[in-house]
Amino acid sequence: PDTGCLSIIVLGASGDLAKKKTFPALFNLYRQGFLPPDEVHIFGYARTKLSDDDLRDRIRGYLSHGKDNGEELSKFLQLIKYVSGAYDAEEGFRALDKAIFEHEVSTKSSEGSARRLFYLALPPSVYPSVCKMIKLYCTNKSDLGGWTRIVVEKPFGKDLASAEQLSSQIGELFDEPQIYRIDHYLGKELVQNLLVLRFANRFFLPLWNRDNIDNVQIVFREDFGTEGRGGYFDEYGIIRDIIQNHLLQVFCLIAMEKPISIRPEHIRDEKVKVLQSVEPIKEEEVVLGQYEGYTADPTVPDNSNTPTFATVILRIHNERWEGVPFILKAGKALNSRKAEVRVQFKDVPGDIFRCQKQGRNEFVIRLQPSEAIYMKLTVKQPGLEMSTVQSELDLSYRQRYSGVTIPEAYERLILDTIRGDQQHFVRRDELKEAWEIFTPLLHRIDRGEKKTVLYKPGSRGPTEADELLQRAGYVQTHGYIWIPPTL
Ligand code: BG6
Repeated sequence: PDTGCLSIIVLGASGDLAKKKTFPALFNLYRQGFLPPDEVHIFGYARTKLSDDDLRDRIRGYLSHGKDNGEELSKFLQLIKYVSGAYDAEEGFRALDKAIFEHEVSTKSSEGSARRLFYLALPPSVYPSVCKMIKLYCTNKSDLGGWTRIVVEKPFGKDLASAEQLSSQIGELFDEPQIYRIDHYLGKELVQNLLVLRFANRFFLPLWNRDNIDNVQIVFREDFGTEGRGGYFDEYGIIRDIIQNHLLQVFCLIAMEKPISIRPEHIRDEKVKVLQSVEPIKEEEVVLGQYEGYTADPTVPDNSNTPTFATVILRIHNERWEGVPFILKAGKALNSRKAEVRVQFKDVPGDIFRCQKQGRNEFVIRLQPSEAIYMKLTVKQPGLEMSTVQSELDLSYRQRYSGVTIPEAYERLILDTIRGDQQHFVRRDELKEAWEIFTPLLHRIDRGEKKTVLYKPGSRGPTEADELLQRAGYVQTHGYIWIPPTL
């Protein structure tokens, strides 16, 4: 069923997400030949009344990036049609179905099969009604094959109960293999590499456990605040925005057991298992922060307790990880922008060099920017003296794979949805487990029982967070810093 007519329908076509992520990803796929113009049509759907050209004009600026891709861009834009309508009205969806159908019958290569991909670039509040309309009026009815698939974006609910409610509303209309829940971190190159690194290398197999690893940090930092998104953000906070989804997905890939095979369901089974082994979060292993000035945003209430920074320690109750803290840390308006995983090993037993050592062995996976995998290790300082120094084995992508463009997360994930590969999407039971871990803490924050502390924008975040890190056993390296190599 992977050939023939393909209709990609972007709902919420005039919104931010569609303009900034969905259409640019589609354009990149088009440029690489993944969306052949004789098979593919793209439909935008939204409430605003626009002509096809109005929509094209609105998105053009997000696709050109000042590059000289004028001709390609015009051809791509010609593939896009626009249909307007409400998100809960039969009329609009019937018109959409008609437009899709016209495209299907006019596509010669289709041999009658029709693939329909609905991308919901919309707030989750309208998911149930939109899904119902799609189900009633727009599913693929061709008896010659094809499919209907739905792509949804976070936030999938606000806590366990609301997420489950949303899941069952959508689940009544579509089967799980038709539903693609995007977590765009799963589309990042270095996140996808985690599975290969861990399970294709003899190096790591014997070391990847509580006997050797002291602590693991999964860190997300941004050097800007909630700019322009204060209203949305205040409803959710950093735990729902970053930790419960993006960082927890990375956590799963670092901590899970080896799947039976690389089949998507086998991988997702293991992720669910490790999530089920996470112990309840302890109050004293959480630090919440809010940057000074956050409430100056007119859409944010003055007395907001919403965290823009959080450090949360997860502990896994199983044979491999008992006693090893997994420190999940995310913050906005900090001193730098990066995302990385830092696996810190224990000290060498009976270490004869200990008095000279700068720090412990660390295995670092820099997710972005300057994608890299490096190992921090102690070596002899080159020269006549017998002294030691901290150094690194460094696989920096820019250097090692110069000339290779790392695909955008959204590009890869949309291609997966066309190909029907759900490995990098969040399964319903996985989502439920994720909410189970964080819901008690989130409720305490929402009720104002767990308070945020203020930190200066442009800083490392609250000092309480560094203290928590130390208590958890993390040992900072002194006098050494990894510098991404430049070409
Ligand atoms: C989004 C969050 O999911 O991820 C944003 O809602 C955040 O708050 C963004 O800025 C970060 O994504 P990336 O790919 O830039 O790390």
